[in-house]
Amino acid sequence: MPTYAVTGATGPFGRHAVEELLRRGTAPGDVVALVRDPARAADLAARGVVVREADYDRPETLEPALDGVDALLFVSGSAVGQRERQHGAVVEAARAAGVARVAYTSVLRADSTDLPVAPEHVATERLLAASGIPATLLRNGWYTENYAGLLGQAEATGSVSSATRGARVSPATRADLAAAAVSALLDEGTTGRTFELGGPAFTMDELAAAFSQVLGREVVHHDLTPAELGAALTGAGLDEGTAGFLVAVDVAAAGGALEVSTADLEELLGRPATPLADALRAARA
Ligand SMILES: NC(=O)c1ccc[n+]([C@@H]2O[C@H](COP(=O)([O-])OP(=O)(O)OC[C@H]3O[C@@H](n4cnc5c(N)ncnc54)[C@H](OP(=O)(O)O)[C@@H]3O)[C@@H](O)[C@H]2O)c1
Repeated sequence: MPTYAVTGATGPFGRHAVEELLRRGTAPGDVVALVRDPARAADLAARGVVVREADYDRPETLEPALDGVDALLFVSGSAVGQRERQHGAVVEAARAAGVARVAYTSVLRADSTDLPVAPEHVATERLLAASGIPATLLRNGWYTENYAGLLGQAEATGSVSSATRGARVSPATRADLAAAAVSALLDEGTTGRTFELGGPAFTMDELAAAFSQVLGREVVHHDLTPAELGAALTGAGLDEGTAGFLVAVDVAAAGGALEVSTADLEELLGRPATPLADALRAARA
């Protein structure tokens, strides 16, 4: 049996992916969970999963961690601004270790989008191409959880705000995106393909309506200008950098950057994506 490895296996996405590999019948001993802190994966080790240290900031950990790995699910890191260097170390280690295939979690239309996170993803896609390792690009849309995170605010205030100008977004749950990633990892036939991955599309007005249903109280959406949204976010206590990032995401979304028109997610899942209302109810529970 091939050996499958997942980076970031103690993060929410990587955890889902490891669980999905096991759920689909992969023997625990054929699953390698790559983590910064093995102590945080003790539960996986107890179930027979191979746990190895792999820190993107410590290249010396990476090649040994990838020894004997056939297919790698490379979950992008979270250190914005550091990732081109970190991801380059992972790609180089995968090449040196002889990993046969990599599936990388990128971002929607990485090479043409205005999303502020794109440059590090497109750089990683290029590093992978240059490495010669056969790769699958999993260009993930936004997580539904990013929107479900607004439920508390919506419940408390009866409103949500954005600067999306009525544009639609197509987020998907982490669980769906991780299950799709595992499908790609398990299916050699996806090698060389680029998947643009998103779930059911909705506007922020429709999100507010879904919040109203789930919360049992009226929630309205205020469509703000970018400057108004920035002021609202800093007024609510966010630092300038985080507020600026969120405004930039909404400005990109207003231009359609978070809408997906492909059926790539359904194709990899082999079923429809989780409906928004179900995801919101699960988040509330
Ligand atoms: N589509 C979206 O809406 C969206 C939103 C947020 C993030 N993302 C991207 O998707 C990725 C996975 O999502 P997530 O929800 O699991 O994100 P997350 O909660 O931010 O987890 C990040 C993962 O990256 C790992 N990591 C960070 N620095 C590392 C390093 N130096 N060496 C090795 N691993 C490192 C973390 O390890 P530890 O467990 O040790 O902390 C964690 O497992 C993120 O890292 C980010 O690239 C996408």
